[in-house]
Amino acid sequence: MKEYNKQILEGIPDELPDIKPYDESVNHAPKRKDILNNAEKRLAVRNALRYFPEKFHGELAHEFADELLKYGRIYMYRFRPDYEIKARHIDDFPHKSKQAAAIMLMINNNLDNSVAQHPHELITYGGNGAVFQNWAQYRLVMKYLATITDKQTLVVYSGHPLGLFPSHKDAPRLVVSNGMVIPNYSSSDDWDRFNALGVSQYGQMTAGSYMYIGPQGIVHGTTITILNACRRITGKKESLKGILFVSSGLGGMSGAQPKAASIAGVISVIAEVNPKAIKKRFSQGWVDEVIEDIDKLSARVKNAKDKGEPVSIAYYGNIVDVWENFAEKNITPDIGSDQTSLHNPWSGGYYPAGLSFEDSNRLMSKDPPEFKKIVQQSLRRQVKAINRHTSNGTYFFDYGNAFLLEASRAGADIMKADGRFRYPSYVQDIMGPICFDYGFGPFRWVCCSNKPVDLEVTDRIACQVLEKISAHSPEQIKQQMLDNIKWIKEAGKNKLVVGSQARILYADAEGRIEIATAFNDAIRKGHISAPVVLGRDHHDVSGTDSPFRETSNIYDGSSFTADMSIQNVIGDSFRGASWVSIHNGGGVGWGEVINGGFGLLLDGSDDAGRRLKMMLHWDVNNGIARRSWARNDEARFAAVREMERTPELKITLPHIADDNLINGLFSD
Ligand SMILES: NC(=O)c1ccc[n+]([C@@H]2O[C@H](COP(=O)([O-])OP(=O)(O)OC[C@H]3O[C@@H](n4cnc5c(N)ncnc54)[C@H](O)[C@@H]3O)[C@@H](O)[C@H]2O)c1
Repeated sequence: MKEYNKQILEGIPDELPDIKPYDESVNHAPKRKDILNNAEKRLAVRNALRYFPEKFHGELAHEFADELLKYGRIYMYRFRPDYEIKARHIDDFPHKSKQAAAIMLMINNNLDNSVAQHPHELITYGGNGAVFQNWAQYRLVMKYLATITDKQTLVVYSGHPLGLFPSHKDAPRLVVSNGMVIPNYSSSDDWDRFNALGVSQYGQMTAGSYMYIGPQGIVHGTTITILNACRRITGKKESLKGILFVSSGLGGMSGAQPKAASIAGVISVIAEVNPKAIKKRFSQGWVDEVIEDIDKLSARVKNAKDKGEPVSIAYYGNIVDVWENFAEKNITPDIGSDQTSLHNPWSGGYYPAGLSFEDSNRLMSKDPPEFKKIVQQSLRRQVKAINRHTSNGTYFFDYGNAFLLEASRAGADIMKADGRFRYPSYVQDIMGPICFDYGFGPFRWVCCSNKPVDLEVTDRIACQVLEKISAHSPEQIKQQMLDNIKWIKEAGKNKLVVGSQARILYADAEGRIEIATAFNDAIRKGHISAPVVLGRDHHDVSGTDSPFRETSNIYDGSSFTADMSIQNVIGDSFRGASWVSIHNGGGVGWGEVINGGFGLLLDGSDDAGRRLKMMLHWDVNNGIARRSWARNDEARFAAVREMERTPELKITLPHIADDNLINGLFSD
């Protein structure tokens, strides 16, 4: 322990650590685009050397120049610490401030080898979701957090610790911004350039805000989406037996689909062209069966439908073939989607039909224009087959992967006469009106003892609180409450904890505040053995402005504004958050979204009790007020209800103009 503390408190070491061999046993980030000219490359090395005393520059300048040429970035591999990076008990981190120790726990979880996607490049998920840009930043941040007091705030610009600044006990201990740039400089090439220079980073959502909890978050969100998509078309609330869901992708996020479908109790067929991705999900138990022969697949699906057997099947092959084959065989999926990585269509995000996986990989680097042509042909074929199914009753939705956008760019038959897409996004039809507009979003917590037994206690407490609230919940949100009660009762059984002892569930402001208050009381009484961190995914009610995802169901023309997310993080910061962060990019891409998050430490104190009430209330109701102003009925309902509960809250409500009056204006 002493050695661990010593290494953290050392920050940048006095002696150069030995060079570390490139460890082939971990998953490494791909070589990044070589985007800098020589003058810029010199600037990148000069920038990197700022972290080190001059006596090291001679040796490090060459080493960093090599890293830049080889990997497209300067990660400073040599400075990766020798100790194991992982979430530990909060008291195992040297600290003067408990809030700071909690942040250290969360940072180390995001960089844990068993949690992070490319741990040595400090990437947690999504290919480029960075915690820091390099190991010097990690070391300095850890040192600052180990020494910070409750009268200081650490400021971090895209991984770079600017320093500790005097503040006060109710201020956040840490304020993070990631990838914030002047708006006209937000293309993906800008990101590559700034990141290679070492001056900006892509924080994704929960990577650069230190709030990642492994695959549990996406499994829960996908379960909620599939459940509600099924209910939307069947009107059924209970058994979803025999319902068939077809989609593609068994990758990082998309891999949650079969697991979520099974939790929801439906049959799923997920196509995947990459054998490694299939193997991983099968060995995890997230898919029940793997089928390679398309005829065997259709026979198996018919059989499962007849028996009402909720089996999850990975089809090793192209999704286009599934849609086409099922159309020929008269198998009509009840719901369908797509989760190939179409936010990145020309470099391996989408594999076209008719070309093998290997041939695609060759062609995309050898002849990019030809590859693009084939991808677009494939998208047109895919949409044609999907259209056949939807005319037979399949409910199809876009799953936040830019499927509709890229299909439209490929000239597929995907537009309606009025210029809108033929199909909705999952937020427009499902998540928005059912969850976000009522204030339901991905609330999460982490037990800082790192003990499973504490997580079990929190699960029980959360369940009791939700059951109590649901007894008087209005009809509009009863189902959301029941779904989450079911989820939390079975959460332990689903064994989704990887890394820190964390849990997610969807709750509204009332649920979040009541659960957090009950946790704080339980910590005070010793029923939970150590503090608990609260947070959320940025994919939420108020935290994210993203016109193609989180705010795609905003129809008053404001979906391309970002006031909500900016106001959110400012508001959280002065209402008691232990740390806040604001990011450019996340999910749908750099320049396409602004999103923010928070962490709040519950330590059983009165201060924590006061902060949680104020902060969580704003963190949800900011979005409710904005969504209500956009005339979303569900949010108007939630806004009125919240004002009845909270006399100090006064939300500006919209007056609704009569369609007949408006439609008569400006006639063509
Ligand atoms: N809706 C959400 O909440 C949400 C959340 C996260 C990610 N996303 C989006 O979903 C997409 C997928 O994310 P991911 O992390 O799983 O990406 P990923 O790249 O890890 O996985 C996509 C998988 O699709 C497979 N694939 C590509 N083309 C195929 C085809 N034609 N047929 C069959 N398989 C094919 C790839 O081999 C890959 O394994 C991304 O665009 C991402 O931005 C949405």
